[in-house]
Amino acid sequence: MENFTFLNPTKLIFGKGQLDQLKTEIPQYGKKVLLVYGGGSIKKSGLYDKVTAILDEIGAQVFELSGVEPNPRISTARKGVEICKQEGIDFLLAVGGGSVIDCTKLIAAGAKYDGDPWDIVIKKTFAREALPFGTVLTLAATGSEMNSGSVITNWETNEKYGWGSAVTFPKFSILDPVNTFTVPRNQTIYGMVDMMSHVFEHYFHLEENTDFQDRMCESLLITVMETAPKLLADLENYEHRATILYAGTMALNGMVNMGYRGDWATHNLEHAVSAVYDIPHGGGLAILFPHWMEHNLSVKPERFKQMAVRVFGVDPEGKTAEETGLEGIRKLREFWNSIEAPARLADYDIDDSKIELMADRAMVNGEFGNFKKLNRDDVLAIYRASL
Ligand code: NZQ
Ligand code: ZN
Repeated sequence: MENFTFLNPTKLIFGKGQLDQLKTEIPQYGKKVLLVYGGGSIKKSGLYDKVTAILDEIGAQVFELSGVEPNPRISTARKGVEICKQEGIDFLLAVGGGSVIDCTKLIAAGAKYDGDPWDIVIKKTFAREALPFGTVLTLAATGSEMNSGSVITNWETNEKYGWGSAVTFPKFSILDPVNTFTVPRNQTIYGMVDMMSHVFEHYFHLEENTDFQDRMCESLLITVMETAPKLLADLENYEHRATILYAGTMALNGMVNMGYRGDWATHNLEHAVSAVYDIPHGGGLAILFPHWMEHNLSVKPERFKQMAVRVFGVDPEGKTAEETGLEGIRKLREFWNSIEAPARLADYDIDDSKIELMADRAMVNGEFGNFKKLNRDDVLAIYRASL
C-alpha cells in the first residue's frame, strides 16, 4: 500500500424526505442562489416545484440556469459563469444527474476566475477558489455528488476532458432514492454500468497488499450485480433504488481506493468516444471495458483471476490464471448483456470512419493508464475490437 491522506468534506444527506434539509443548509452560504438543472426531468417529476418552494420559504433570491446537456457543454457553463459574475451569486444548487453537477462545479470555479472557464478544463490554469455549491442528486451513476471531479465537453472542437480541484467538492449532497424513481430504464442501466466501471478502474492496479480495498471493491460489484435485475423489474422499488444510489456514491468518493492508483484508461477511451459522438457515458463503458480487459489480461493475470473467482464465481480448477480471468470477462459481458447494456459501438451507429480522431482525443496527453500504459496502437486496437 502507498502512503495516503484522505479528506472528503462533502456532507452526505441520504434518504426519504431529506430535501427539507435544504432549509438549514443553504442559508449558511447566502441569499443569492443559482439553481442549475437539465433538460426538464425535474419539472416533470415535480422535484423542481418542491425545491423552488423551499427556496421561497427561506427567502432566497433565485436565479436559474436550465438546459444543462447530458455530457455538459462548455457553452452552458460559460452562461452560468456570466450569471454568477453579473448577479453576485452566493451559492449554487445543482438539481440533477452527474452532468448538472459537473457543469455546476465548473461554474462555481469559473465564477472565481477572470478568464474563460475552458482554461480550467484544459488545465491551462488551476481552480484555487470556487463558489460554494450543493447538490440534489436525481440519478445514481457518476459519484460526482461526493467527489471533486467534473467532465466537460467542448462540442465545437470535439473535446471532452475531466478536471477537478480540492475546492470543487459539494458542500452537501441530498440523496433521496425517491428522486431516482423516474430515471428511465436505459439511464438506470448506464448508471449501474458506470459505477461498476469506476470499481474496475480502481481494481486494476499494480500495488501489493490491498486486501481490504479489493474486498470493498468486490462487495460493491456483487451488490450492484445482485440488485440490478431486481431494480430493473421494479423501477420504483425504494430499497433497490437506495442500494444502487448508495453504491454509486461509494464507488467514486475515494472510500474504496485509498493507498493505490487505479488505471482509468477506459474512462479516457470513453470520453474520447463521447466527445466525437455524444453517446451516454455508461453505454460507452459497457462496450469498451471488456475489450480493455482482454487487451490487458496478460499484464497481471492474477488480478483478473481474483476478480473472476470472487466476483463472477468462476471455478479456477485446472485452469491457468489467464483462462480463469478470460472466463470472468466473459461473465461480465454476459451480465451486461442480460441487463441490455450496449455491447458494440455499432449499437450507436459508430463505424471506423472517425476512429483516428477518437484516438487523437484519447492520446491528447500522450500514453495513459496506470495498470498498463496505452499507446496509440493499443487505443486503436481496443476501438477496433469494440466496433
Ligand atoms: O437533463 P434532464 O432532463 O434532467 O434528464 C437527464 C438526462 O437526460 C436524465 N435524468 C436524470 N435524472 C433523472 C432523469 N430523468 C428522469 N428522472 C430523473 N430522476 O438522465 C439523462 C442523463 O443524465 P446525466 O446527468 O447526463 O447522467 P449521468 O449522471 O450519468 O452523468 C453523465 C456525465 O457525467 C460524467 C460523464 O462523462 C457524463 O458527462 N462523469 C462524471 C464523473 C464525475 N464527475 O466524477 C465521473 C464519471 O466517470 C463520468 O465521466
Ligand atoms: Zn464513469
